[in-house]
Amino acid sequence: ATEAEQRDLVIIGGGVAGYVAAIKAGQEGMKVTCIEKRGTLGGTCLNVGCIPSKALLNNSHLYHQILHDTKARGIEVGDVKLNLAQMMKSKDTAVTGLTKGVEFLFKKNGVEYVKGTASFAGEHEIKVNLTDGGEQTIVGKNIIIATGSEATPFPGLEIDEKRIVTSTGALALDKVPESMVVIGGGIIGLEMGSVWARLGSKVTVVEFLGQIGGPGMDAEISKAAQKILKKQGIDFKLNTKVMGGDASGDKIKLQVEAAKGGKEETLDADVVLVAIGRRPYTAGLGLENIGLETDEKGRLVIDSEYRTKIPHIRVVGDCTFGPMLAHKAEEEAVAVVEYIKKGYGHVNYGAIPSVMYTHPEVAWVGQNEQEVKASGVKYKVGTFPFSANSRAKTNLDTEGLVKIIADAETDRILGIHIIGPGAGEMIAEGTLAIEYGASSEDIGRTSHAHPTLSEAFKEAAMATYGKAIHY
Ligand code: FAD
Ligand code: NAI
Repeated sequence: ATEAEQRDLVIIGGGVAGYVAAIKAGQEGMKVTCIEKRGTLGGTCLNVGCIPSKALLNNSHLYHQILHDTKARGIEVGDVKLNLAQMMKSKDTAVTGLTKGVEFLFKKNGVEYVKGTASFAGEHEIKVNLTDGGEQTIVGKNIIIATGSEATPFPGLEIDEKRIVTSTGALALDKVPESMVVIGGGIIGLEMGSVWARLGSKVTVVEFLGQIGGPGMDAEISKAAQKILKKQGIDFKLNTKVMGGDASGDKIKLQVEAAKGGKEETLDADVVLVAIGRRPYTAGLGLENIGLETDEKGRLVIDSEYRTKIPHIRVVGDCTFGPMLAHKAEEEAVAVVEYIKKGYGHVNYGAIPSVMYTHPEVAWVGQNEQEVKASGVKYKVGTFPFSANSRAKTNLDTEGLVKIIADAETDRILGIHIIGPGAGEMIAEGTLAIEYGASSEDIGRTSHAHPTLSEAFKEAAMATYGKAIHY
């Protein structure tokens, strides 16, 4: 390719990692091309992840609340009916609006968008099988791989996305299944399990570990979450492993057994959701053509500046290290372009929040109590329950608590864990506190508007270095 044809930057994958890097590069005045094979931009997150799941979570919550939580509020409703097709349509509208929005942002920032499947023909040459037919070779001075992740399959259970589904099928069922078994009590299992339980399914979550929410969740918060979700009708089988399944009959039959061996049981389900984690996706990229390898978990190996061993090829997002979160991918996308353009960039991996969008929401940032304990640091804990918060009381939404963990000697905050209404918004304040190296006293002495839920955050901080006022 001539100098004029060569792009400053070619990005493979138009998910959050890829599209954010593309926009940032456009803003930096780089000649940038983003290649995406899906047909729409936004990747897993916008098409079959964050966005459609939140649309269903929001509307299924509203439906559930109208069914079960209006009388005490002085609202009498008549017949309440679910129109699942319309609920799905409203989800699709949100998705389409946002994916088209990214396309608009590409145009606005001068990003070239190529629809097709990319693979390496050389260290600078990328061959694209164009969606509309034909082939194109694109040459990049710099290349970013942002090919994301896919659901980890469960051996022996064949995914058809109708009866045995991943999150993608669970976001698009055309009727409410009578019963659903969720394999894996992590974030996907609990979010999608919540959606279908609220719409009327009998949901059972089978989890290998002794706690739900995945290993990042604070154990105390996880217990509280399990109790609340149980009250909402979700059944849990912890310390339980799935041995195999048979989908030949009307009902799917799943054999489960105590994780440590022993008691066996068969569970019947109309739909089985496999939610045992996600794995990096690099299939068909032709990594072998340029001698790049993945580690034992399928991740592309990079250094602290996102470089592979071929320094002009860098990797960000779900297909490399770190939590598989959209906002993590987004931070990396900005940083990697800064590294390419300016030689420096920055992501604070100690201050990436996690949110589970159930009701109530669970959100955390920093270390959980298990981790702090294991690190040997002396620490103190302050908590404040939403049942003592005035706004939660007026809203008749009082389940949950805020928990703050701080260094016993310096009072510096080490971790913040919230289960409660609006926890996902509230954690932004906690993340800022950690980013700025705040002490619990810094927060306890900061005025928080009354009456707001965030006063529970302030009072938990007060309880960490001293005493809360209202509890
Ligand atoms: P992806 O979004 O997977 O994008 C990669 C893109 O690359 C894909 O569009 C793919 O088609 C394309 N691609 C791959 N190979 C090629 C190729 N050879 N040529 C061209 N294109 C290619 N995270 C949150 O932070 N909050 C949430 O609420 C949340 N909810 C989620 C809910 C669900 C059900 C799921 C499954 C995930 C959720 N996530 C959430 C995780 C989030 O979706 C991911 O962390 C995020 O999408 C990662 O972005 P990425 O760009 O690295 O990868
Ligand atoms: P996960 O890693 O969060 O949870 C998987 C769960 O399955 C774990 O608790 C694990 O112990 C369990 N498990 C594994 N193998 C099992 C087996 N054989 N039998 C029973 N249980 C088993 O993965 P999940 O929920 O699939 O989500 C994947 C990724 O997607 C997450 O890592 C998360 O980063 C991202 N995501 C984020 C969301 C958010 O931020 N709100 C929402 C949904 C997904």
